[in-house]
Amino acid sequence: MAKTKTTFFCQNCGAQYAKWQGQCNACKEWNTIAEEVIQKAEKVSWKTHDSPLTERSRTAKPQRISEISTQAEARLNTKNNELNRVLGGGLVPGSLTLLGGEPGIGKSTLMLQIALQLPYKTLYVSGEESAQQIKMRAERIQPIAENCYILTETKTQNIFRNIAEIEPDIVVIDSIQTLHTDYIESTAGSISQIRETTAELIKFAKETATPVILIGHITKDGNIAGPKILEHMVDTVLQFEGDRNHIYRILRANKNRFGSTNELGIYEMQGRGLREVSNPSEILISKNDEDLSGTAISATLEGMRPLMIEIQALVSSAVYGTPQRSATGYNAKRLNMILAVLEKRAGFKLGAKDVFLNVTGGITVDDPAIDLAVVAAVLSSNIDIAIDKRLCFAAEVGLAGEVRPVTRVEQRILEAEKLGFTSIVISKYCKIPKNNFHINIIKVAKVHDVVHHLF
Ligand code: TYD
Ligand code: MG
Repeated sequence: MAKTKTTFFCQNCGAQYAKWQGQCNACKEWNTIAEEVIQKAEKVSWKTHDSPLTERSRTAKPQRISEISTQAEARLNTKNNELNRVLGGGLVPGSLTLLGGEPGIGKSTLMLQIALQLPYKTLYVSGEESAQQIKMRAERIQPIAENCYILTETKTQNIFRNIAEIEPDIVVIDSIQTLHTDYIESTAGSISQIRETTAELIKFAKETATPVILIGHITKDGNIAGPKILEHMVDTVLQFEGDRNHIYRILRANKNRFGSTNELGIYEMQGRGLREVSNPSEILISKNDEDLSGTAISATLEGMRPLMIEIQALVSSAVYGTPQRSATGYNAKRLNMILAVLEKRAGFKLGAKDVFLNVTGGITVDDPAIDLAVVAAVLSSNIDIAIDKRLCFAAEVGLAGEVRPVTRVEQRILEAEKLGFTSIVISKYCKIPKNNFHINIIKVAKVHDVVHHLF
């Protein structure tokens, strides 16, 4: 009998050790090293099953860079504009895409929906749900789909055998953590299994030019579960995020070998699957006619996409000694900084007030251009007077109380104009072509000046 071979892996970063130790040398985490049984018998690749697909494979030879044709690679249109945009125009043949996200956010729904819509032959491999469950879900989304095959299997060797039979154009694996290969003896979801099954899938994808989409779980701190090397191995890492209690979901690329990572896709979770949201600004701004204090609208940019977002603030006298500050969808430290700036540079006494801030729609915004809208919302709530609904903001606030210019301000102004805003407040130092816009552009230099334009 072959001797059982074991190695130690860091469960956090995937580093490999010959013996156990308390701290991982690579990522410096404590108590993350665990023993795993590995049995690399004879190394067998996906090809050993006399697959007809192997005929499609070719061996690579060195080529002169000047001789490589620069034609744009043919991409597979996923029939889903938001996904196409995030991928950079569609799925690249032979690429491996990893889709991560919290449990219940809708990863399986999104991928099944894509598989059902596609005009190509797709194989949806699930190790998480039974075929009946998938069928029930599919019926909710789209009842008729002729090209979609479902396989409930977790062993890669069996998956490849089925692939050889069906010859799908696209393969979806739900999820990488449930897969296991015969040649490694540790449990599914362990570092060595994830590494090995991904390697097998990459080999398959590259050799047959079939795009493979992997669904991956994430850990409690938001990283994709498994070794970091998983993210290095795949071509594209997509993140599906959003608040489970809200209906909006955001798809973004954290890594993309074939396109920009700036793009963003927005979906709405409905009773019948995910709907693409092609004009997000309209839904993110609440449509009530009443004048409410404490709300301000910011012209932000998520990646390349302009997005009008509503910010809500509530400022009230602190009940307890230490005032509370809380922010949802906005960096809490940044909120504290803005409050300090308002106190010091504009003379507002907010030190004894509770301040709550919320970005509506359950989305998180990193764009610094939101700062000025935060200032406006806080001031509006503080004196309880509503800001004109047709006014919006796009500027960063600096520590000296200066209002700083932001990138692509023209694009933001155009979006605001398109949505019917009559005025936009930007930094005095923004360079924009004159007289191009119908919207009234208000330029301010300091936070203190903003107040005059607000009420
Ligand atoms: P799911 O796609 O299984 O999430 P994941 O694979 O990321 O864990 O879960 C989707 C959630 O969305 C589930 O709680 C039910 C809900 N849902 C809808 O609201 N509408 C639908 O049409 C479907 C299929 C699911
Ligand atoms: Mg799932």
